[in-house]
Amino acid sequence: MARSALLNVMVQAAMKAGRSLSRDFGEVQNLQVSMKGPGDYVSQADRKAEDIVFAELSKARPGYSFLMEERGTVEGDDSQHRWIVDPLDGTTNFLHGIPLFAVSIALERQGQIVAGVIYNPAMDELYTAERGGGAFMNDRRLRVAGRIKLVDTVIGCGMPHLGRGHHGNFLVELRNVMAEVSGVRRLGSASLDLAYVAAGRMDGFWETGLSAWDIAAGLLLIREAGGFVSDMDGGQDMLDNGSVVAGNEVIQRALLKVVKKPFTPR
Ligand code: IPD
Ligand code: CA
Ligand code: CA
Ligand code: CA
Repeated sequence: MARSALLNVMVQAAMKAGRSLSRDFGEVQNLQVSMKGPGDYVSQADRKAEDIVFAELSKARPGYSFLMEERGTVEGDDSQHRWIVDPLDGTTNFLHGIPLFAVSIALERQGQIVAGVIYNPAMDELYTAERGGGAFMNDRRLRVAGRIKLVDTVIGCGMPHLGRGHHGNFLVELRNVMAEVSGVRRLGSASLDLAYVAAGRMDGFWETGLSAWDIAAGLLLIREAGGFVSDMDGGQDMLDNGSVVAGNEVIQRALLKVVKKPFTPR
């Protein structure tokens, strides 16, 4: 498959960071780990991977701005372009030896996401999408699942970690969804959750309290795989308010309705 020069740059950065993560994953017990807050960890591996992505992308496209999880915002001369980077999405999985984690890189041009790459090095699965060019895993074109009855679906979700709060809201959402679908999954990496929806492995996904770097690349993947995404209000402010509901056209709409149903004890 021929990739554009832009995607090649992003893939190279993601794979190089992924190789660093793979090495650290093999020696996870020796890594320095610190806590940003209750249940919220960051390790040397996150920082090393971020340094690699930052160096690769800065070299290939000097002047572009950055939004990265660990460094925050780095303003460049070119305010039209911004990289949105999560160097290790799924740190908790990573630190527990669970091979569900990824590097996620998106490029925003004039406020619009135009390219996205998500790489899970443990499974060697590379997801790529460019606006208008479709979504791929490795060389295979992706399409969201076609199921249209909620009762047939497997839906992914994210659960708020210890320090995040809103546990009660989540339990109401979960209870509503569990009552309507075949099964619910919690992978522990929002970028992979979205990639799995794009790949048709899960029929839908919802989570709140996310950050732009968790979802920017995944949102494009889903759209380019023929899927639909909105925030919890049905709008398109996912990057700003950090809530996401995703699926094919029918399931996305149905899931949004179910997730937002008021609590009815039973
Ligand atoms: C986390 C993962 C997780 C989601 C959390 C994120 P991190 O990212 O995406 O699935 O539930 O909200 O913070 O911290 O591992 O990059
Ligand atoms: Ca984190
Ligand atoms: Ca993340
Ligand atoms: Ca992260």
